[in-house]
Amino acid sequence: SKLKIGIVVGSSSQQSINRKLAQGLAKLVQDKADVEFLEISHLPLYNRDMDGTPAAQPYEDVKQKIRSCNGILFVTPEHNRSVPALLKNALDACSRPYGQSAWAGIPAAVIGTSPGAAATAMAQQHLRNIFVFLDMPALQQPEGFVRWSDELIDAQGNIGAASHDFLNKYMDKFLAWVELHQKK
Ligand code: FNR
Repeated sequence: SKLKIGIVVGSSSQQSINRKLAQGLAKLVQDKADVEFLEISHLPLYNRDMDGTPAAQPYEDVKQKIRSCNGILFVTPEHNRSVPALLKNALDACSRPYGQSAWAGIPAAVIGTSPGAAATAMAQQHLRNIFVFLDMPALQQPEGFVRWSDELIDAQGNIGAASHDFLNKYMDKFLAWVELHQKK
């Protein structure tokens, strides 16, 4: 059966270029995997007093979806050279209560786009640091530093010609990575 891939987008902007990239990447693998977008924009800011209370229900719902995935792709902007607060909140909330993290053991990859020359590289490196503690084995190469241009995504929402081969290869490597890390 097909692998199930969850995609987490680290932006809640209605015009998010990272969501556009994520949708393009999802199309690249639509025949090879089942893709579900794991939405995090509605999650309130987490604190530990919520553990075990009705306030934690939105996190528990996302955690259940996370656990149903064979692998998770994070498509994220960079905010002030780090991970956006929106994404950090979801990572933190779904890692708790202690010992009940939903992320543990799930193979992951990170990619992102920005108009800047460094193209989210530092946010990705910060996220890799977090993956270590979350015990998420993360694809190392190729790295997904994608500089945004209007040609990145075409009018139909597909990955544009200039980036197609690289991103197609990136997604194939990710799927192979996910397959490699499935518990038999
Ligand atoms: C940014 N942006 C940005 N870009 C970048 O390459 N490195 C950075 O450190 C930052 N920092 C930053 C902070 C904050 C608070 C905002 C709102 C933006 C610009 C960013 O790349 C641009 O807004 C993208 O469009 C964000 O991606 P989404 O939200 O469109 O997917």
